[in-house]
Amino acid sequence: MYSSKELLQTLEDAIKALPLECEPKGLYEPIRYVLSLGGKRIRPALMLMAYNLYREDITPCVMPAIGLEIYHNFTLLHDDLMDRAEVRRGKTCVHLKWDDNTAILSGDNMLVLAFKYMMQCDSTKMAEIMHTFTKTTIEINEGQQYDIDFESRNDVSEEEYIEMIRLKTSVLLACALQIGATLGGASEEDAQALYRFGERLGLAFQLQDDYLDVYGNPDVFGKRIGGDILCNKKTFMLINALRHASTEEHDELQKWIDNKDCNPDEKIQAVTALFSKIGVDKLAQKRINEYSAEAETYLNKVNLPKERKQILQDIAHKLMGRQN
Ligand code: IPE
Ligand code: IPE
Ligand code: MG
Ligand code: MG
Ligand code: MG
Repeated sequence: MYSSKELLQTLEDAIKALPLECEPKGLYEPIRYVLSLGGKRIRPALMLMAYNLYREDITPCVMPAIGLEIYHNFTLLHDDLMDRAEVRRGKTCVHLKWDDNTAILSGDNMLVLAFKYMMQCDSTKMAEIMHTFTKTTIEINEGQQYDIDFESRNDVSEEEYIEMIRLKTSVLLACALQIGATLGGASEEDAQALYRFGERLGLAFQLQDDYLDVYGNPDVFGKRIGGDILCNKKTFMLINALRHASTEEHDELQKWIDNKDCNPDEKIQAVTALFSKIGVDKLAQKRINEYSAEAETYLNKVNLPKERKQILQDIAHKLMGRQN
């Protein structure tokens, strides 16, 4: 079996070898730029890990894994435009380093390249994995639309929020694992259990992302802290703050939500202080632990010896406490 380090190195080598020195530069440079900024490569790593549970040589799964990472990076280009974000992986976002049109078109090209590389797989399994992949990409669009719709709503329930993050984030981790397992020749039951493991892990992953958006260290997180607060994103933190606030705290939160021309840093500071006072930071960490525990129950259902699955267990633990 490959170690995480070996898998990540394989991915970096494959990304470096991609033929992206193409014309027009305005289309391809932003693609090279975003792919060269690193990132955790968690989704393609999960795909290779799932494949490696069943097959010793991961080579046949590398191009689909690269396709998935290109797809993820495409979502980031468009997401940063939609979220008015400024920094990604510690560097200026594509829509600001270039412009909005560049983020749209380079992103579109990455989406198509993602499909191109995903199709470079075992032809007998292609229809099945392309079905999983296309279903997932549509769900992510649905999740992203809910995320934007929720910005201007004040009555978003926690259930709606969880379904939104399942769609925008979880299904991609789940899809990575399922496709890796399917290509590796796993049983239908194992592939499904790995999908569920990824889905629960993905919920914990997005909750941690929401948490770090408030409490993270910007130098490590690589994104601006407080971006979600500025956009009035209905995150786990804000929904629960509104729910558990005293009347006074609720009024104060609502005032910041409604205030369109306040000083951004002041708003971030005030809302963060309210979150901490209400205790939603601890609530989020508790929920992250619960989803991680649920994820583990699905991993236990995968019909393989425990040692073989240890690498997935380890990555789940690592993601729970991640700071970036
Ligand atoms: C960012 O994903 C988008 C979310 C779903 C939170 P990652 O946190 O995996 O970003 P990178 O690829 O490591 O930069
Ligand atoms: C990420 O949600 C979902 C997708 C990119 C599909 P966020 O908007 O929270 O991700 P970050 O925080 O910008 O990475
Ligand atoms: Mg965003
Ligand atoms: Mg977003
Ligand atoms: Mg975020």
